[in-house]
Amino acid sequence: MTQEAPPNDKPVKRGLARNTANYGDPDFAMYLRRSFAKSMGYSQAMLDKPVVGIVDTGSDYNNCHRTVPELIEAVKRGVLAAGGLPLAFPTVSLCEPSLFPTSMHYRNLAALDTEAMLTAQPMDAAVLIGGCDKTVPAQLMAAASADVPAVQLVTGPMLATPFQGERLSACTDCRRYWAQYRAGTVTAERIGQIEGRLATTAGTCGVMGTASTMACLAEALGMVPLGHGSIPAVHADRLRAAEAAGELAVKLITAPVRPSQVITAASVENALRVLLALGGSTNALIHLTAVAGRRGVRIDLNRLNELSDTTPVLVDLKPTGEGYMEDFHAAGGMPALLWELRDLLHLDCIDVTGTPLRERLVEPAFVDRRYIRARGEPVSPVGGLVALFGSLAPRGAILKRSAATPSLFETEARAVVFDGLEDLANRIDSPDLDVTKDDILVLKNAGPLTPAGMPEAGYLPIPSRLARAGVKDMVRMSDCRMSGTAFGTIVLHITPEAAAGGPLGLVESGDRIRLSVQRRSLDLLVDAAELEKRRAAWRPPARPRRGWDRLIHEQVLQADEGCDLASLRLEG
Ligand code: FES
Repeated sequence: MTQEAPPNDKPVKRGLARNTANYGDPDFAMYLRRSFAKSMGYSQAMLDKPVVGIVDTGSDYNNCHRTVPELIEAVKRGVLAAGGLPLAFPTVSLCEPSLFPTSMHYRNLAALDTEAMLTAQPMDAAVLIGGCDKTVPAQLMAAASADVPAVQLVTGPMLATPFQGERLSACTDCRRYWAQYRAGTVTAERIGQIEGRLATTAGTCGVMGTASTMACLAEALGMVPLGHGSIPAVHADRLRAAEAAGELAVKLITAPVRPSQVITAASVENALRVLLALGGSTNALIHLTAVAGRRGVRIDLNRLNELSDTTPVLVDLKPTGEGYMEDFHAAGGMPALLWELRDLLHLDCIDVTGTPLRERLVEPAFVDRRYIRARGEPVSPVGGLVALFGSLAPRGAILKRSAATPSLFETEARAVVFDGLEDLANRIDSPDLDVTKDDILVLKNAGPLTPAGMPEAGYLPIPSRLARAGVKDMVRMSDCRMSGTAFGTIVLHITPEAAAGGPLGLVESGDRIRLSVQRRSLDLLVDAAELEKRRAAWRPPARPRRGWDRLIHEQVLQADEGCDLASLRLEG
């Protein structure tokens, strides 16, 4: 779907005159549309203005979006002041902890809904208000396909809460304390107290998890104006950014900059550099792949490795470091980070204002080096993510090395296999589980094709018997994802997934697996004849009977293609 472009000899339709309903009589369609619009109390003068659609993802189920109503008011202020008519409309809203089986299962639904509403309704430009993990990529995917001039406004991160001498924020601290509770070093009473202190303000998770990573990548791509992605949700600047987004959207009507001009192979590579320098979320790689795929740009995981070897990690935030998003913003945010990376970036890329990156970059007057390091003193000289290939992952797998334990990077060990999430839940803490700290935990049948919907279950818990003995990390691997706020030596997105007939589906407990980060390899050390025997006995999962689950099953692509629906990608 692409916003209609009238032939050269026809006048350009603007505002409410766009996309009239098809009654076979365009004049009647406009008459009816004006009549219904007037029932909402608009004057004809207002209805004659160009229209800015505002994507409203506010929802009582979405704590991360609870400021959306006031953001909409601020956007409307900007649109009205600039001479446009602001019209907000709801789309699917996705909140991580609120959805079964997982929000990832519905990212493409949100993208499809948003794309359809951007193209079907009359609007000249749009402001996309998103924030939580899947909402931002869904909106970028939709905008890339609809190609309506659009600016993205993120809700912004929550603030960390002082608590008994430390600071807490969702969700690295949630996982850290839960792991300690499982290990018996934190009491039930204390975990209950902490539950009420982890997320105490509006906004998205306060660490460099998926939501924050995607906000930064949206800035790196150019769909969020530079400096706007990390403003805290409750800061007054967030409302000023909303007002500015409304004003910018009106400017886009007379001087259109379309997502197809902003989301290009070069800007996608810039975003990959930023992802690596942030030590950002592994999920963001899937989302960026999906967004790029909407413009026919393919992310090659071998190229990711090249970029990773030449991009330092410069940002020191949780889950890998110490800071929170408010620290990153106060330290200089994306303008400071991009300045630091400038010799590695494609500087001709324009953003939604139409300005090349080289003109947007200015040497920052102040950078807090605790959170944004200088190139000469990086957190790590190489990037946070690496792709692995081998007989267990013919099309690749991902390891976040910046969140992993280096002593486990070269591991050959026995596999302890779980057939799916239910099996994992039933046996991981069983006293009878045959497992040692040197084994590799393997979870299969949790990829995008499965009813589990590729959940963030790749952070397999350390078996409680081992956790209580002080084991903090083990090699874990799966065809699912991991929260951007998690950490550990965790191999994710094994492709093809088990349910698609990938070698992962053939692994059995007792097999040996070799992981080598140095060689970027992941191999199943089982001879070919034995694997053939297992393959002959393997059966694909049952097809869901109806609805979205059925559509996902028939159309969803693998992780190396962004888990988008096949029919929605633009073939490059
Ligand atoms: Fe929404 Fe973390 S749950 S950003």
